[in-house]
Amino acid sequence: MGKGSKPHIDIYLWLLQIIIVLALASLVIIWVCLHPKTPTYTILDFYIPALDDSNNSTVNRNSTIIFNLQISNPNKGIGIYYDQANVSIQQAGNQDIGGSFIPCFYQGHKKSTRREVTVNALEQFWKTDLNSTLVDLILRLKTEVRYTILGRKTKHHMVNLEGHVSIGSDGKLVEIILWLSLRPQSPTYTITDFSIPSLDNQNQNTTSSVISNNSNSTVSLVLKIKNPNKDYSIYFDDINMKLYHGSDALGVTTIKAYKQDKKENENFPRTIDADGPLRNVLREILKNGTTELRVGLDTKIRFKIWGRKTKHHGVQLDGRVPIGKDGKISGKNKGIKLHKRSKK
Ligand SMILES: *[C@@H]1O[C@H](CO)[C@@H](O)[C@H](O)[C@H]1NC(C)=O
Ligand SMILES: *[C@@H]1O[C@H](CO)[C@@H](O)[C@H](O)[C@H]1NC(C)=O
Ligand SMILES: *[C@@H]1O[C@H](CO)[C@@H](O)[C@H](O)[C@H]1NC(C)=O
Ligand SMILES: *[C@@H]1O[C@H](CO)[C@@H](O)[C@H](O)[C@H]1NC(C)=O
Ligand SMILES: *[C@@H]1O[C@H](CO)[C@@H](O)[C@H](O)[C@H]1NC(C)=O
Ligand SMILES: *[C@@H]1O[C@H](CO)[C@@H](O)[C@H](O)[C@H]1NC(C)=O
Ligand SMILES: *[C@@H]1O[C@H](CO)[C@@H](O)[C@H](O)[C@H]1NC(C)=O
Ligand SMILES: *[C@@H]1O[C@H](CO)[C@@H](O)[C@H](O)[C@H]1NC(C)=O
Ligand SMILES: *[C@@H]1O[C@H](CO)[C@@H](O)[C@H](O)[C@H]1NC(C)=O
Repeated sequence: MGKGSKPHIDIYLWLLQIIIVLALASLVIIWVCLHPKTPTYTILDFYIPALDDSNNSTVNRNSTIIFNLQISNPNKGIGIYYDQANVSIQQAGNQDIGGSFIPCFYQGHKKSTRREVTVNALEQFWKTDLNSTLVDLILRLKTEVRYTILGRKTKHHMVNLEGHVSIGSDGKLVEIILWLSLRPQSPTYTITDFSIPSLDNQNQNTTSSVISNNSNSTVSLVLKIKNPNKDYSIYFDDINMKLYHGSDALGVTTIKAYKQDKKENENFPRTIDADGPLRNVLREILKNGTTELRVGLDTKIRFKIWGRKTKHHGVQLDGRVPIGKDGKISGKNKGIKLHKRSKK
């Protein structure tokens, strides 16, 4: 465009520079808008008057739990509108014992505030636990926040936190100050590779040789387990995997109990000896060109944070694996993600 009018080139360059600077500036603003830091919640103290033997006045013999939270906005130049925060307390073992809330409020940038939370817990909680010397509680906090940047409010962002607290028999916090962190997310389990070696060799395509009694009856697969958590490592119990064709169990394999660190991936290559029943699968594949197998996975996991382990969580998953002529996962599937087993 500058070809015919040379004197204007400078102006175009100057305009271009301005546009680039403006574009960069707005990119920075957009980036900041999209990535404000989540506010932090710290448990400052924790008190269960009913467990405090030094104060045996009858007034205190009720089921109140009191704690103080420090709520901090770590962002420079960004204010935060907090919606009502719902707080609930669970006893290790997953029984809800009570809840409360923190009303909505606004917090300026780089500010910190303290909120007292009083929870009236269920009566039976005390009846069951007063005997033990240590009470493990899980504190959950759920809210939504909006950030204000340059006078504009962002959309709502979910804050879903969890903290583990140990209370001594005197009703006071035993553990040092704890931070609430994001609730642990379940690990993901994916079958990334699957093969039936006896179908692998495409030249050997005589039905009888594939199905003969002494053909290789192994099935191999690779299971990839991913821990998506930044704060939690995961302890897996033994992982049992079962392979099914329809309702026939073809074989089983076990991955020994192990620990997986934060943000880690692990691959487990496994072979399953599917001895007799595999012949039906092979017959179907040779006849029909395809079949579907099902992988069932059972285990229990515990999350670990700040040196403490949560209770066991049961895991029961299922995945359907379409098998092609070559004995491998058919279609352009990169992998089969296992999902929660549906009850039949
Ligand atoms: C005992 O409880 C009462 C009533 O809540 C309170 O005023 C007092 O400070 C407590 N005493 C001690 C030693 O904690
Ligand atoms: C608490 O109970 C003990 C006896 O169990 C008694 O000696 C003490 O004076 C009581 N304290 C208060 C503050 O009532
Ligand atoms: C239980 O005790 C606390 C502290 O003494 C008091 O603030 C609260 O009102 C009491 N709750 C009930 C239900 O009596
Ligand atoms: C209470 O604690 C004692 C000693 O720690 C224990 O022997 C007993 O079984 C406990 N009772 C209950 C109901 O948990
Ligand atoms: C908190 O509880 C109230 C009332 O039960 C509910 O309307 C609100 O959606 C809850 N907030 C969150 C963030 O779950
Ligand atoms: C495999 O099958 C194809 C037809 O499906 C046939 O043409 C070929 O000769 C067979 N190969 C062997 C080694 O049997
Ligand atoms: C395979 O084994 C079965 C019994 O185990 C037998 O009846 C059959 O003849 C065998 N087939 C071949 C091809 O060897
Ligand atoms: C079957 O094939 C797999 C993979 O090729 C091999 O590791 C295994 O030893 C074979 N098993 C038998 C019984 O031939
Ligand atoms: C063959 O495949 C078709 C669909 O592709 C399916 O409907 C049929 O049930 C299969 N046959 C057998 C014996 O599995």
